[in-house]
Amino acid sequence: MTANAVPHVKLSSGLHLPMMGLGTSQFVNHQGASVPNLKGTREAVEYAIDIGYRHVDTAYSYGNEAEIGTAIRNKIQQGVIKREDLIVTTKLFHNLHRADVNNVDFRTPDLVLGSIKKSLKNLQLDYVDLYLIHAPMSYQFIVSDEKIGYVTDANGNRLYDTVDHADTWKALEELVDLGLAKSIGVSNFNIRQLQHLLDNCRIKPAVNQVENHAYLMQPQLWNKTKEELVLTEDPIVGEVAKRHSKSPTQVLIRYMIERGRVVIPRSTNPVHIKENFEIFDFEMSKSEMSKLDGLDRNLRFFPFTQFKDAPQFPFND
Ligand SMILES: NC(=O)c1ccc[n+]([C@@H]2O[C@H](COP(=O)([O-])OP(=O)(O)OC[C@H]3O[C@@H](n4cnc5c(N)ncnc54)[C@H](OP(=O)(O)O)[C@@H]3O)[C@@H](O)[C@H]2O)c1
Repeated sequence: MTANAVPHVKLSSGLHLPMMGLGTSQFVNHQGASVPNLKGTREAVEYAIDIGYRHVDTAYSYGNEAEIGTAIRNKIQQGVIKREDLIVTTKLFHNLHRADVNNVDFRTPDLVLGSIKKSLKNLQLDYVDLYLIHAPMSYQFIVSDEKIGYVTDANGNRLYDTVDHADTWKALEELVDLGLAKSIGVSNFNIRQLQHLLDNCRIKPAVNQVENHAYLMQPQLWNKTKEELVLTEDPIVGEVAKRHSKSPTQVLIRYMIERGRVVIPRSTNPVHIKENFEIFDFEMSKSEMSKLDGLDRNLRFFPFTQFKDAPQFPFND
């Protein structure tokens, strides 16, 4: 498999986005806590680039931008890629939506500009290809020891902020003008929130990154409840996988790409990273595709329940 074999979608910004990228979000340790697996992330990104991945997804909040930056720099220095060969996405943290900070006790003149500069420094890059508002909920923030954290009340509840997304978006548009982000977009926005941006923007959001898989196809960007099901153990997926001598995961990734979605499955396991990339050498029949269509049940595995009380929580309407 080579990088050239991966299909691309052309975004409204003109950017050609490979439909297969590497996800790198936080990892869970043996006690169940979320921790970035830093060495694992660097090695995974280097291996993925070696075997042809040209699209990497991260976020300020994943805490691994510096390791990803090192991986990219290593691969450029080794002559495996040039900067322009690789699409790098990162995201604006939930509590940095404020473009102007007149009412906020913080010294950075512009939180959005300050945030991307921090990410670019971590990534050792001059620009990112895609910069996304990570989620629509905005929160008040505090900075201590150079780290950005949530402001909480006496009971430990996070304090919301009420920033109009259109204001944050204007600050993102300026990042494009400054050449710091080639394309800008959002993540986890619902239809109403997207429409608000479309009605108030100069540059259209190029992307809305959302949870998406055969159990949650979101034809209209909609969702309901979570159930305990394992998608890779679904008998229909297993039957299709067996017929093509592929793994259930390969069938599920291929299915999403066939349905026009850009995918970023995460792995630090080289066997999985390779397996996830080896999906362009088989084709599913129409009847297999329609059986897989039948799996959709509005099932969200990543429901952001910790933010469900926020006024801008996207998954209530
Ligand atoms: N914008 C947002 O709010 C948001 C939210 C969630 C995720 N994301 C992005 O989407 C990416 C993907 O989501 P995710 O990380 O939550 O979950 P995911 O990619 O759906 O699943 C990751 C898990 O699947 C395993 N895996 C990967 N390939 C496999 C294979 N071929 N066979 C068996 N197991 C396999 C990985 O383990 P191994 O490491 O052992 O392979 C890991 O435990 C994230 O990394 C992040 O970049 C964005």
